[in-house]
Amino acid sequence: MLWGGKHYSTNFYCFIGWSLQGRGFSPLARGRKLEKPEETAVPIHELLTNRWSPRAFTDRSMEQGKLMAVLEAVRWAASSNNVQLWAFLVVQKKDAVAHDAMLACLMDRNKSWPALAPVLILTFVEPIWTEQDRDNATAVHDVRVASAMMPIQAEALDLRTHHMAGIHHDVIRAAYVVSEEFNAVSAIAMGHQGTLDLLTEDKNRARESNPWTRKSLDEIVLAGTFGTPAKLAL
Ligand SMILES: Cc1cc2nc3c(=O)[nH]c(=O)nc-3n(C[C@H](O)[C@H](O)[C@H](O)COP(=O)(O)O)c2cc1C
Repeated sequence: MLWGGKHYSTNFYCFIGWSLQGRGFSPLARGRKLEKPEETAVPIHELLTNRWSPRAFTDRSMEQGKLMAVLEAVRWAASSNNVQLWAFLVVQKKDAVAHDAMLACLMDRNKSWPALAPVLILTFVEPIWTEQDRDNATAVHDVRVASAMMPIQAEALDLRTHHMAGIHHDVIRAAYVVSEEFNAVSAIAMGHQGTLDLLTEDKNRARESNPWTRKSLDEIVLAGTFGTPAKLAL
C-alpha cells in the first residue's frame, strides 16, 4: 500500500507539468517553486518527504540566526568516538569576492546554478585521529552524517540545500590554505528555493523537473542471506 506524503494539490499540478513536457520543464512549472511528489511506502516525517535538492535558489539573503541554526544542527551530529573530525567553511553572497572564490572551487557542472545560492559551504575531514595517532576509518562517514543534518534543519526553517561532490580539491587546498591534516569532501549550496526560470541552462531546468524516485525497500533491505529481500509487510 502506498501512502502519500503532503501537498497533494501542489503535487498534482507538478505531475501535470511533467506529463505535458516529459523530462523537460513545463510552462506550468516555470514560474513557480517546484515541489517533489512522493509516495512513501509508509508515512514518514514531513521534513523528510518535503526535503529535496533544488538548483534554483532566490537571491534572498539568509537570516544569520537560521544559518547558525543549520550549523548548530551539524554540530550535534553523531561521530565515531564523538571525535568530530570535521570542519565547515562558510561563505555568504553578501561577500561577493568570497562567494565568487568558492564558486571557482566547483566543477563546471556545478558552476551556474550555485551562483544563485546566498550561502555556500565546503566540508572538510581530518582522516587521522591525531590524539590516538591512527587513521579514523569512519571520518568521511562522520562528516557526511553531519552534512546530512543540514538539509533537515534547513527544511524546518523553510530553506533548502544541495550537496555537491563535484569540487576541485587542488583549487580548494590552495585557495583556503587548507592544513595538510584536512581534506575537502563536498560543497553545499543553501538558500530559499526559487522558481525554475531562475535557472539559465536548459539542462538544469530539465534536471530540476525530474521526478523524485528511489529504489524500493525490497531492493535495499535484506534478510537472511545477502541478496534476499526482507519482504517487509504491514
Ligand atoms: C554526496 C553527494 C554528492 C552530490 N554531488 C552532486 C553534484 O556534484 N552536483 C549535483 O548537481 N548534485 C549533486 N548531488 C545531489 C544528488 O544528485 C541528489 O541529492 C540526488 O539526485 C537525490 O535528489 P534529492 O536530494 O532531491 O532527493 C549530490 C548529493 C550527494 C548526497
